[in-house]
Amino acid sequence: MSSNLIEKKPDGREGRDGDRGHHHDQRIASLLEQMSLEEKIGQMMLGQPDEGPAPEVLGDLLRNGGIGSVINVIDRDTVNELQRIAVEESRLGIPLLVGRDVIHGFQTVMPIPLGQAASFNPDIVRDAARAAAEEASATGVNWTYAPMVDISRDPRWGRIAESLGEDPFLTAELAVAMVEGFQGKNLAAPDAIAACAKHFAGYGASESGRDYATTNIPENELRNVYLPPFKSCIDAGVASLMTSFSDIDGLPATANGFLLKQVLREEWDYEGFVVSDWASIPELTTHGLTADDRGAALAAAAAGVDMEMATDTYRHLADLVNSGKLSVEAIDAAVTRILRIKFQLGLFDQPYTDARDERAKDVRGRAFEIARKAATQSMVLLKNDDEVLPLDSERIASVAVIGPLADAPYEQLGTWIFDGDPDLSVSAVQGIRALVGDSIQIRHVPAMETSRSRDTSAFDSALAAARESDISILFLGEESILSGEAHSRADIDLPGAQAELVRRIRQAGKPVVAVILAGRPLTLSNIVDDVDAILYAWHPGSMGGPAIADLLFGIESPSGKLPVTFPRVVGQIPIYYNQKRGGKPPGPDSIVHIDDIPVRAPQTSLGMTAFHLDTHYTPLFAFGHGLSYTRFEYDNLRTSAATIPIGGSLTVSVDLKNTGRIAADEVVQLYLCDPVASLTRPVRELKGFKRVHLEPGQMQTVAFDLHSDMLKFWGRNNEWIVEPGLFQVWVGGSSETSLGTEFQLLSDRESDD
Ligand code: BGC
Repeated sequence: MSSNLIEKKPDGREGRDGDRGHHHDQRIASLLEQMSLEEKIGQMMLGQPDEGPAPEVLGDLLRNGGIGSVINVIDRDTVNELQRIAVEESRLGIPLLVGRDVIHGFQTVMPIPLGQAASFNPDIVRDAARAAAEEASATGVNWTYAPMVDISRDPRWGRIAESLGEDPFLTAELAVAMVEGFQGKNLAAPDAIAACAKHFAGYGASESGRDYATTNIPENELRNVYLPPFKSCIDAGVASLMTSFSDIDGLPATANGFLLKQVLREEWDYEGFVVSDWASIPELTTHGLTADDRGAALAAAAAGVDMEMATDTYRHLADLVNSGKLSVEAIDAAVTRILRIKFQLGLFDQPYTDARDERAKDVRGRAFEIARKAATQSMVLLKNDDEVLPLDSERIASVAVIGPLADAPYEQLGTWIFDGDPDLSVSAVQGIRALVGDSIQIRHVPAMETSRSRDTSAFDSALAAARESDISILFLGEESILSGEAHSRADIDLPGAQAELVRRIRQAGKPVVAVILAGRPLTLSNIVDDVDAILYAWHPGSMGGPAIADLLFGIESPSGKLPVTFPRVVGQIPIYYNQKRGGKPPGPDSIVHIDDIPVRAPQTSLGMTAFHLDTHYTPLFAFGHGLSYTRFEYDNLRTSAATIPIGGSLTVSVDLKNTGRIAADEVVQLYLCDPVASLTRPVRELKGFKRVHLEPGQMQTVAFDLHSDMLKFWGRNNEWIVEPGLFQVWVGGSSETSLGTEFQLLSDRESDD
């Protein structure tokens, strides 16, 4: 039998089309009837050809229906050959899911997700995912392992680079944009790829930011903070979810029936499928939850993991079913969910990928443009004393370009760049030269071989270049390998001798600008006062160089905002803007200089608030912070009504004026607080944002619709609630804005009166 026994739709198209794929149910049922138990289990297994050429390593498994998906095959001809074996040489001819980590671009690399998050721009995030899907699908990849929606409040964690930051609302909005970008309007289109929201759930909360470490998240926090972005992706039609490696409240996520059954299936009615993470099923035994692979397979399958990634403990499922430990209904449910996505992808009608070389060329041009725009909008101007930036090319004759990351086409790409092509990457020094040509003399001195170098022998020549030039631009940060999976750091200062390099260059007595390329927030306290300006570029991807040049020379104004809080010192972590107030919140009196504490000071003389004696209680840079080359003034904050009934809405408006001299974008942010509630609530929560472009002198009223649903939280009785009473609302250009007002949420009784 082959797949052409399956009835084709007359127009040959498959797709979500809003019906969540139910028109495939009959075809899935008829397939299930024909499948042996082993063939069903095969669909639940994802093969990887690490040990040799894929058709050789995986061919027999494909022929006998032993695997239904593959990972990490990205050569189009090889993928087509694997599909051919599956479709023509296996008994039932079921096509393959072909998975790959397409995380931030494919050959053309977009900024790391954390950088994209700083754009606060769902449109550019959607475009970036679309471009990545177009490039990846041309090789036969039809399933990506993105977006990662793990709330990340710990910059030590290497995977913060892959996250969309610390905030649930921002993460959800941008993750939805990514899902839309990858999956397109119709999953069956040849350039659409299935998305996978990961890692369900709580992975970002690993203790001390050590990757894979245990997580402890109380259910209330899980519900209010960690789960909402997953729910948003599901509402947006995300095809699959991936489990987390970590254990949560004592139960590894990969065997967590509470998450995978109760929340995902019973409460959320999710119909896509769940894949384990790489080897996370056998690792249940390492965790100490199960004694062996067989036990691990049972624990994962019983909890609701539909597909095993890379390892093969699910081979035990047949025996587990035959011995009555696992029901065949559980297997059928998993296989149904997997087949449904294969139908939605249109694979039963067109399993092969055409040679689309011509199309690929158009794609590349567009991808470059998107990568450049995304990089430009993602960079955050943290500091700009005396408006040292933008550089005025009329008045500057020479620039010293110094530092290990000024000309590092590979390093600027960041983590997860299996397919990224460093030859397509334009470095900062290349971008600057291309922009200014001969009009400005560029003295380029790398000064350090890598970001980790401790060798300072080239610092003298760097200082000489700085002395001879009108200004120095230091390209600092972290190499690509210092962030990403399993690449956590305990010390997040600039590595190597970089801080010393900054101090040396300072001695030139000329203005110093730092451009920092990194996969995480770094602690910058030891350099912040030695530089006049800081442009935080993250790992900006292929077009990082042109974007940096445009921003330095004022072709574009910086407009990125921090999607994550920048601590002053590691000891402040976790530090995030939407913290709880606590009973003794710190304030301006909570500042102590440890050196100034009198000997034998009385115990209570330093104040009794929540702060550290040896650092300020605030972060170095707050969530939402980001400067511009122009000035924006916020005024006339108002609500359309003083009260709002449950189920109703009101509008919050503000007048935003560009009072500076140049056109620029501003990201307007709206924060809410429920100051008295039956559970303690965060001091502020982002509930809206808009990127607005204003010409000099232009004023625009920016309005946010606020529905009472946006005031809800997960309450003590384990359900979403809204509590009538006073709410505070603030609007501004960062989480520290003080422009606020209030409104009342009326109870049903008050509304009736
Ligand atoms: C990561 C996943 C990734 C998978 C496949 C794992 O180690 O945690 O995020 O998608 O590998 O490469």
